[in-house]
Amino acid sequence: MNSRYALLAFSILALSACAGTHEPVSSVPTQTVQGNPTSVDFAEVSVVFKNNRCMNCHSGNNPDAHLNLTVYAQAKAAKDNIRKDVDSGDMPKHGQHLSAGDQAIVDTWVLQGAPDTVTPLSPPTTDDPTDIRFAQVTVVFQNNKCLKCHSSDPSGKEPAAKLDLTQYAQAKAAADDIQKDVHSGKMPKKSNPLDAADLAVIDAWVAAGAPN
Ligand code: HEC
Ligand code: HEC
Repeated sequence: MNSRYALLAFSILALSACAGTHEPVSSVPTQTVQGNPTSVDFAEVSVVFKNNRCMNCHSGNNPDAHLNLTVYAQAKAAKDNIRKDVDSGDMPKHGQHLSAGDQAIVDTWVLQGAPDTVTPLSPPTTDDPTDIRFAQVTVVFQNNKCLKCHSSDPSGKEPAAKLDLTQYAQAKAAADDIQKDVHSGKMPKKSNPLDAADLAVIDAWVAAGAPN
């Protein structure tokens, strides 16, 4: 059932990718983080549902499951109740209250309008691979979910980490730690390590003195 959505999403992405090939590649990154520092899609919120055993009751032929949380359209239609029930602790029924991190993922997904897929920002582009500025590093942060914890939370809660990576001065001051932590895999916490291309962006930025 999900494959239909995946296929649709893929077609849309493929179409927009084709449409984009005729546009000139700009050397200046145009995307910056503004107002929407996080991106939670249905796949990510589904992991939260699974880890918190929501599917025990809300999937397949389970009689409790008038709400099937494995079906995107149903989850989207119930988004406000999902947020209310996990924030209040009513759900998971007979289960443990969601962790603050999982709750933030649910909150963010709902506040974003419960999207099925989120298109990642374009990878940083530059004519000179040594000329990496904060705007490009910001795209790496965003695509690797750093800003989910390292920014003021769009749900209005306190940020999970003191370091706010949307603030240039803070990121610059922490540049060496950022480089160390992404190479060791310590960051992003609870998420996949950076790929080689993203590591190269961080390395070039730090090597250049972390310019703005
Ligand atoms: C042990 C079984 C069980 C588990 C686990 C469970 N639920 Fe439920 N859920 C129910 C039942 C039964 C209802 C029906 C109404 C009621 O009793 O509140 C329900 C109702 C709901 C509703 C309201 C339905 C609607 O139509 O809006 C939401 C939203 C919901 N659950 C979300 C979740 C989420 C999210 C999780 C995991 C964090 C979860 N539930 C875990 C059994 C469960
Ligand atoms: C799930 C939440 C989460 C994510 C995602 C995350 N971090 Fe963190 N990060 C934290 C927390 C919490 C701390 C502070 C406590 C600790 O060190 O465990 C921290 C600490 C750090 C520190 C050390 C701060 C200091 O003052 O020394 C750096 C640097 C850092 N993170 C960078 C990143 C980068 C870069 C990413 C993305 C590649 C990232 N983090 C993703 C939660 C997160």
